[in-house]
Amino acid sequence: MSKKDATKKTFDNILLTLEETQEKVGYLPAEFMVELADSLDVPVSDVYGVASFYSFLATRPPGRNVIRICKSLPCHLKDGQTIIDTIEKEIGVKPGRTTPDGRFSFELTNCIGLCDGAPAMLINHNVHVDLTPGKIASILDKYK
Ligand code: FES
Repeated sequence: MSKKDATKKTFDNILLTLEETQEKVGYLPAEFMVELADSLDVPVSDVYGVASFYSFLATRPPGRNVIRICKSLPCHLKDGQTIIDTIEKEIGVKPGRTTPDGRFSFELTNCIGLCDGAPAMLINHNVHVDLTPGKIASILDKYK
């Protein structure tokens, strides 16, 4: 096996194991990432690098509700930044954070396939499209 193939196989193993653990545990505890790095004989930074690259993988315990708002160009061109700013103001934390009461985690993500309804976001598995600043408070009220 070439070095390039071996590197790809290691990357695939890391990603698969991280996805499985995320599914079971809900996030990726630091101790788990250290153990995985040891078992694959790779630096912890390699495992953490994969875990932190993908927005669907969480390196901290998530809030009860996870807001994933699209930051890609079609949503951005439909004033997506105003929606991001409105959510930040409503819940009091910046993207990448969880509210102190654990009610919301707030994440920016790349296109979620809802460009026809830009600007768009997911809260947990629920789709919210054609967002305007005036809609945000009532949408968030549905999530306790
Ligand atoms: S660009 Fe935002 S959902 Fe596709």
